[in-house]
Amino acid sequence: MQAWKDYQSQNKDRFLDELFELLRIPSVSADSKYKEDVKLCAEAVKDQMLKAGCDKAEVCPTAGHPIVYGEKIVDAKLPTVLVYGHYDVQPADPINLWNSGPFEPVVKEGKIYARGACDDKGQMFMHIKALEVMCKTNSLPCNVKIMIEGEEEVGSTNLGIFLENNKEKLKADIVLVSDTSMISMEHPSIESGLRGLAYMEVEVNGPNRDLHSGVYGGAVANPATILCQLIASMHDENNHITIPGFYDKVLTLSKEERAAINKAPFNLDEYKKELGITEIWGETGYTTLERTGIRPTLEVNGIWGGYIGEGAKTVLPAKANAKISMRLVPNQNSNEIAALFQAHWEKIAPPFVTVKVTAHHGGEPVVTPTDSMAYKAAAKAIQTTFGKEPIPTRGGGSIPIIALFEKTLGLKTVLLGFGLDNDNIHSPNEKYDVVNFYKGIETIPYFHKYLAEGFE
Ligand code: BES
Ligand code: MN
Ligand code: MN
Repeated sequence: MQAWKDYQSQNKDRFLDELFELLRIPSVSADSKYKEDVKLCAEAVKDQMLKAGCDKAEVCPTAGHPIVYGEKIVDAKLPTVLVYGHYDVQPADPINLWNSGPFEPVVKEGKIYARGACDDKGQMFMHIKALEVMCKTNSLPCNVKIMIEGEEEVGSTNLGIFLENNKEKLKADIVLVSDTSMISMEHPSIESGLRGLAYMEVEVNGPNRDLHSGVYGGAVANPATILCQLIASMHDENNHITIPGFYDKVLTLSKEERAAINKAPFNLDEYKKELGITEIWGETGYTTLERTGIRPTLEVNGIWGGYIGEGAKTVLPAKANAKISMRLVPNQNSNEIAALFQAHWEKIAPPFVTVKVTAHHGGEPVVTPTDSMAYKAAAKAIQTTFGKEPIPTRGGGSIPIIALFEKTLGLKTVLLGFGLDNDNIHSPNEKYDVVNFYKGIETIPYFHKYLAEGFE
């Protein structure tokens, strides 16, 4: 579509400037210090929706951070796409590892550096700009509802409630999300599944106070040592997870399905080099693509206890803690896995300590169909703008609300992500390539076009 191309090229600098305005707002959902900024960001997203051509847009308050909802209804007879994304971001720390301010976006070597550049402001904003392109060229081929939330990075609890209460308003034919990654610009891909998540916190308690490690050490169990022993026991020599029942419901994939996953291009040497590791690690019997796509995992996200300040302090800490997450695959259930984890930790806790386990937010795994009309529309859109057929892949990350779109609204999702695995999401120096940003804006209108044609 020439009109789309023209509009985009005439406005591309402004598109980037407008993205920068959003990136400058520190909409960190996890930290209450930023509550007002999160709200400001919601308002800015709403303004952008109206500017793009939405008939209406509103900031919907929740018990937590607001949800921004907008829509452009062309004709009730046409199919409706529900676009989902999030404007909240992860905390920026460790701040000293950033080469430029996390909320002072810059372009360096063709890459936008800022917290949220890729996850997910840069990606959700492509949808707002794509909508603008279609509206301003009078060529929107279907109805668009767009819902951008402010709590994805903290578990989407209030969005789950919003879905329950707004089934009619959110009626659509398909959900479209750009919050995942593709293999590379040379190898465009579409994620056809996401893992679930069970996130736990454990506390190991020992003596009633911190002790002198010389006076008491060797005679009283050290909670930090016990915590490390318990954590180490979570994997066996094959790096299988040792929690009884953990794998009971894991869907076994056929040889053909596994072969398909391993067909995706993957260069082990480049992978190691890029991460600065000498050897890969993982569950025996599975490839790296399988380990991150179709197998469940258990990771320590944080561990603390005792003295971590400057110099040396001789102390036997009274307690030690860890945050441990498990990525889940079909047909595991996050509540069941959390319960198994808790029961196991309570059982393996040695008598010298007490262990307290609490569950944080969770989410269920999803598989999105690759034979649906909507997936085909996405594949054709990629084919049109990349000149290549996308490869279906399984993503390692989680977006808990996707399972609820299906459960609550009965809607399937297409994960049309344009990020790259090395975009440093959740890390210092998060980036998003400018070309990916523009390519997304170029590709999205074709999805709408091909979807509408498929419904004819
Ligand atoms: N956009 C990510 C998820 C993602 C990243 C999927 C890359 C596929 C590829 C999302 O914002 C995210 O970070 N999700 C969290 C879970 C959430 C409950 C905090 C995650 O995966 O850790
Ligand atoms: Mn995200
Ligand atoms: Mn994220």
